[in-house]
Amino acid sequence: MTPVTTAQFPKTRLRRLRQAPALRRLVEESSLTAAQLVLPVFVKEGLARPEPIPSMPGVVRHSLKSLAVEAARAQALGLGGLLVFGLPRKKDAQGRGADAASGIVQQAVRAVKRAAPTLAVMTDVCLCEYTDHGHCGVLRGRSVANDETLERLAAIAVSHARAGADLVAPSAMMDGQVRALRRALDAAGFAETPIMAYAAKYASAFYDPFREAACSAPAFGDRRGYQMNPANLDEALRETALDIEEGADVVMVKPALAYLDVVRAVKERFHWPTAVYQVSGEYAMLKAAAARGWVDEPRAVQELLTAMRRAGADIIMTYYAVTAAQSLMTSQRGRR
Ligand code: PBG
Repeated sequence: MTPVTTAQFPKTRLRRLRQAPALRRLVEESSLTAAQLVLPVFVKEGLARPEPIPSMPGVVRHSLKSLAVEAARAQALGLGGLLVFGLPRKKDAQGRGADAASGIVQQAVRAVKRAAPTLAVMTDVCLCEYTDHGHCGVLRGRSVANDETLERLAAIAVSHARAGADLVAPSAMMDGQVRALRRALDAAGFAETPIMAYAAKYASAFYDPFREAACSAPAFGDRRGYQMNPANLDEALRETALDIEEGADVVMVKPALAYLDVVRAVKERFHWPTAVYQVSGEYAMLKAAAARGWVDEPRAVQELLTAMRRAGADIIMTYYAVTAAQSLMTSQRGRR
């Protein structure tokens, strides 16, 4: 890289390329398109009409019917896909609802496929929405038993693939989960179903609104025994290396805003398809400030999503996917 020094002024004036929109666009380094945005959605068994989620204004728990409408809209907007989370009617210690052929996610996948056949349908593979104790795996005593959980996760992934999921995304942070899913999918005839691994998923305060939305808060303790310590970066690279070795097609960093350094490091180190998840608390935080008129919401959203792209993310999971895609369309027409 040629160093820029002040000695080059007045020959060098960086403002030259900033003076008009057309010039600014010409040298824009990061792009944001609808195809890179994935909308996480909640769908609840037995719901007649959508239910608002107080800590996530504008986000609802869908009925199967309203989810189908949302899917059609996502497809029309050219979104990268939906990431489906299910809320079952009944929970138990093993999370048996999670891999039922007629489970809520399995029904949702079929409904989305009918309503939006070309939209990518992704599913979250975890137990926390299905267990009565709210942990991401099956328990032995008061801790989550890793290897027993792997069998459950693998069965869930296969049932999602069977329902028609285009991609499965294990988020339980169990050791060996990607390998377990890959083996089970291959054995069941789904060698072509990709895995997006929540590779570096941190134990974060920013998941709380999600846990309200998904009714998945742990009944005791917390998730620090399986999710990562926010202080660690080297460990995120180890997690990612293992997931890639185990067969991850896409690796994910989560949350987004406080972990963009992790996104950058993962992308630079592995050059692998990299996703980032702007989580519920990040959404809630922005919504709260916007509701008070303290930030300009569309601009703030665009800035944050662009920062994620700049950090190296190829794919962004965001509750703002629809509104961001809509404003990208208008700004393209109106030429910022
Ligand atoms: C399930 C899961 C969680 C999120 C995504 N998958 C919750 C958790 O780990 O407690 C959080 C997403 C969000 O906050 O938007 N394991």
